[in-house]
Amino acid sequence: MRTRRRRVAACAVLAAALAAGLTSCGQEARGGSRYQPDAGKGGTVGIAMPTKSSERWIADGKNMAEQFRKAGYKADLQYGDDKVENQVAQIENMITKGHRLLVVAAIDGSALTHVLTRAAEAHIPVISYDRLILGTENVDYYASFDNERVGELQGQYILDRLGLKKPDADAADDERHTIELFAGSPDDNNTKYFWNGAMKTLRPYLRTGQLVVRSKQTKMNQATTLRWDGGTAQKRMDDLLSKNYGSADVDAVLSPYDGISIGIISALKSAGYGTKRHPLPVVTGQDAELASVKSIVAGEQTQTVFKDTRKLAKQAVQMGDAVLTGKKPEVNNTTDYDNGKKVVPAYLLKPVSVDKKNTQLLIDEGYFTKEQLR
Ligand code: GAL
Repeated sequence: MRTRRRRVAACAVLAAALAAGLTSCGQEARGGSRYQPDAGKGGTVGIAMPTKSSERWIADGKNMAEQFRKAGYKADLQYGDDKVENQVAQIENMITKGHRLLVVAAIDGSALTHVLTRAAEAHIPVISYDRLILGTENVDYYASFDNERVGELQGQYILDRLGLKKPDADAADDERHTIELFAGSPDDNNTKYFWNGAMKTLRPYLRTGQLVVRSKQTKMNQATTLRWDGGTAQKRMDDLLSKNYGSADVDAVLSPYDGISIGIISALKSAGYGTKRHPLPVVTGQDAELASVKSIVAGEQTQTVFKDTRKLAKQAVQMGDAVLTGKKPEVNNTTDYDNGKKVVPAYLLKPVSVDKKNTQLLIDEGYFTKEQLR
């Protein structure tokens, strides 16, 4: 509260000095001088994460909280249990408590407009973490990975594994393969980037018939998985197999996230895949979660996309610290992330494809120990 009071007082002084009403503190550009009056270390940063049901968000939150503390701030870390109303209430609470900065990985990217108007009124800057917050001017910076690249890595991996080198409408029958497509949560802005990246690589082969989606579910809205839920994906895969495959095999499954891949693999195993005579198809993933990396080592899931969340947390903390101390945060993309109200300046990190051949990378990087992957 002390910080907020100081800020309000500083605004009052400034307003008096500008007696003619040239501007008000609340109307200055976000990320600009309206944060200057009490620029400096100290105070609390609110970190709103979506769910503890995935390892990555637990690590993201913990890493950020630790690093903010090291940088001289207190951290208030909250998880929304994948319920939009929880996350909104948690952010409201952070605003009421006078936190100086919000770092938010949105459950539903479009559901925070109202609460972030309140944050703006209280002069609290906002960093959108991993997932872009949509439909509001009141988001200052975005820290994420190159999300379209994630999808490209998944799509390209499938092509490579199936030996598809170039689109060819006259390809022989043994160069034609079946595939089913999964997308992420429809309320997560990343979903369309992953999908577009993957489909950019796969679509030419769908056109030539070298890749065939027997279910005909080739549109993103037919393939989405609410809240990235593995159980939901499992049910859909059960259904796709029983309605469309009969005695035919599915050769590849585009999965955007490890939790979804696990569900897909369970459905495949229930349908008899996963034996020497009836091997599992190529199944992609994302996040290099421990269970999936182990599954890759065991020869079940085929690939994942490693996004070093420690680096992402570090980037977000650097951005936040810069904003709070009156410096300009480092960004490397000012064109691609339009949230419907503004193009949000972003820092994007590079994702890396991982399969059985390079899981050692995760050990070398210190992401997992050798023992964990046994
Ligand atoms: C996305 C994120 C992915 C994955 C997914 C499910 O927003 O970019 O890395 O974690 O959520 O949690």
